[in-house]
Amino acid sequence: MARVVLTRTLPFEAVDRLRAQHDVTVWEAAVPPSPEELRDLAKDAEGLLCLLTDRIDANTMEAAPHLRAISNLAVGTDNVDLEAATARGIPVGSTPDVLTDATADLAFALLLASARRLPQAAAAVRQGEWVTWEPARWLGQEVTGATLGIVGPGRIGQAVARRAQGFGMTVLDSKSTPLDELLERADFVSLHIPLTDDTRHLIDARALARMKPTAHLVNTARGPIVDHQALAQALHEGTIAGAALDVTDPEPLPPDDPLLDAPNLIVLPHVASGTHRTRERMAQMAVDNLEAGLDGRPMPHQANG
Ligand code: DGY
Repeated sequence: MARVVLTRTLPFEAVDRLRAQHDVTVWEAAVPPSPEELRDLAKDAEGLLCLLTDRIDANTMEAAPHLRAISNLAVGTDNVDLEAATARGIPVGSTPDVLTDATADLAFALLLASARRLPQAAAAVRQGEWVTWEPARWLGQEVTGATLGIVGPGRIGQAVARRAQGFGMTVLDSKSTPLDELLERADFVSLHIPLTDDTRHLIDARALARMKPTAHLVNTARGPIVDHQALAQALHEGTIAGAALDVTDPEPLPPDDPLLDAPNLIVLPHVASGTHRTRERMAQMAVDNLEAGLDGRPMPHQANG
C-alpha cells in the first residue's frame, strides 16, 4: 500500500481500484491547489495523480521527497517538468491514444461551427432577431472541398485529416508543407502540436497575417501556442474570418479578457476529450501508469526517461 495523492475528485471506476489498494488522499476543492497547497498536499506522497491544471515543477518534487511516480491525466505533459522528474528518477505517465477521436471530433465540430457561424446564428434566434428566412444573412464558409491545414500531423492531427477526407477537403500538413505556405493556402488551420518553448506563440501576428481573410483558426492543442493579443487584433481587423478555441491562455480566461470582445470567436472550456467514455479511459490509463510506477514496472505510457 502506497501513499497516493489525487489533485482532484475523479468520479471514475479506475479510481475506486486505486482506493482499494492504496492510501489515497484527494484534494476535494473544485479548483486546483495553489503551488503552496500542492507542495503541502504532496509532502508525504509516493504517487501523484495530477491534472493539466497542476504545475508539477522542480519545487513541487523537492517538497515531496518520497515521490516515486507521477501520472498526468492528459496526453499533454507541458505542466510537468519532465527533466526535473527524470533527474530524480521519477517516471511520468500520460494518456495518449484514448482521447484521439474525441479530440478530433471536437476540432471538427469547432471548424464547422466557426465556418457556419453557428453561435452567432443560434444567439440571434434566442434574441428574437430571426424574423424571416433571409437569403443573405448568417452566411458562412463552405467546408466541403475546402483546404485544411493541419499544424502537427501526429495522432490527433491525422484523425482530423481522416474526418476532413469525408468532407472532400484538401489536406495540407506541416510535415510536408512549410508552415508559411500552409497558412497562406488553408481555408481552415487546425493546431495539433504540443506546447514547448519552440511552439509558444507560433501563431503570432506574422503567422495570422499570412492567413486568408476568409480563413478560420481552430485550436484544440494548448492556449499559449496562439498569441491572444495578435489573434484579437486579427479578428477585429478582419485579417482572418474566425477563430474557435478549446484552449486559451490563461485557462480560464477572465470574463473581462479583451480577447472575448473580438468578433467571430468561439471559446470553449477545454472540453475536447470530454466524453464519458474517453474520460473513463483516460482515468484507467492514468491509474495503470501510476500503479506500474509505484510497483517499479515501466509505465504503459511514460512521457520521460
Ligand atoms: C490533454 O489530454 O492534454 C487534453 O488537453 C485534455 O483534454
